[in-house]
Amino acid sequence: MKAAVVTAFGAPLEIVERPIPEPGASQVLIRLQVCGLCHTDIHAAHGDWPAQPTLPLVPGHEGVGIVEKLGVGVTDRTLGERVAIPWLGKACGHCRYCVDGRETLCEQQLDSGYSIDGAFAEYAVASSTYVVPVPDGVSSLDAAPLSCAGLTTYKALKLAHIEPTERVGIFGVGGLGHLAVQYAHIMGGVVVAIDIEETKLDLARELGAAQLVNAAQTDPVAAIEAEGGLDVALVLAASPRVFEQAFTSLRRGGRLICVALPPKGTMAISIFDTVIKGISIIGSIVGTRQDLAEVFALHLAGRTRVVAETRELGQVNDAIAEVLSGKVTARLVFDFQPAAALPVVPGAELEIGRTGAPELLTTSNHS
Ligand SMILES: NC(=O)c1ccc[n+]([C@@H]2O[C@H](COP(=O)([O-])OP(=O)(O)OC[C@H]3O[C@@H](n4cnc5c(N)ncnc54)[C@H](O)[C@@H]3O)[C@@H](O)[C@H]2O)c1
Ligand SMILES: [Zn+2]
Ligand SMILES: [Zn+2]
Repeated sequence: MKAAVVTAFGAPLEIVERPIPEPGASQVLIRLQVCGLCHTDIHAAHGDWPAQPTLPLVPGHEGVGIVEKLGVGVTDRTLGERVAIPWLGKACGHCRYCVDGRETLCEQQLDSGYSIDGAFAEYAVASSTYVVPVPDGVSSLDAAPLSCAGLTTYKALKLAHIEPTERVGIFGVGGLGHLAVQYAHIMGGVVVAIDIEETKLDLARELGAAQLVNAAQTDPVAAIEAEGGLDVALVLAASPRVFEQAFTSLRRGGRLICVALPPKGTMAISIFDTVIKGISIIGSIVGTRQDLAEVFALHLAGRTRVVAETRELGQVNDAIAEVLSGKVTARLVFDFQPAAALPVVPGAELEIGRTGAPELLTTSNHS
């Protein structure tokens, strides 16, 4: 099988041939159809964070594919089932966090594409219990970005406890942000979208944002304050300065939700303002399997739209450069079975969970 591998931090990923892995006990073998490129994969490949992954590493935690083999003792998955491989590859299942509904805080967790090999490969093995079934009617191309970008922002905004009419700022309308705008809107918020690229702000408007702020052209804090400030500020741009701008944009009772993970990160915020204004500062890491089931259900109900463009795995380094350039509209997704590689049968379904030929740009709300 082909896999994209990080062999040295900051070096281009290498496309290598590897044997198809065997599923161990409690694991399944998955033939990947697609895998999204999250900015976290770029941080992993650059070794940006204090806890660096062990190399060589196959990144990828927005994988969607078909269960092809069951390891010994697997009874919770079936052959042919379509599943997602999210960031939470495995948790212990019995610590206080696992049993009280906060499994993403488990101290024994293994993370897909970080502490264990992920889904930038034609096949991957994964825990049978921690992969998440993708409902029929949600295309694989849509399911991939939902599995991290959707899951993470849905969970982060749940933690914000938005009340209808509250003003919710989404700082960074990229892969995560384009879904965050929609969840904030669904939860009843009046959405303010902040980015430095006009195309991303155009998309945010289409997806329900009421105020657009181009932080490259105007002081975002002044622009937001002029409209009354924010009750919730969700930070999805990996820059400490953006966290500080988000904090300063909050009005009394505001919640700062920290999600982006800058390589070097400390933010300077006023303790006095935090106290006097009664501000909450909340960190949020991905979401649980139940959160992802809810994300898929919302999409199946036609409530969300995924904006993604496909690339081949061999283009992985170019794709990373594209994301870093800021020119990707929302999400790039690696397609392991591009149209050219498939037999052309007019009018026929290409594969489970996909309708019609793979499109360059999908803005569907269901398949
Ligand atoms: N906490 C978690 O669970 C979690 C999960 C997934 C990703 N992340 C992190 O979230 C971050 C975003 O990931 P992504 O995949 O959406 O990245 P992305 O590159 O697709 O999006 C980032 C967006 O921020 C915008 N931006 C850049 N500078 C800005 C500025 N000064 N002001 C406003 N906007 C600005 C960019 O134009 C882009 O639209 C990354 O740091 C990633 O590692 C965290
Ligand atoms: Zn991610
Ligand atoms: Zn645990």
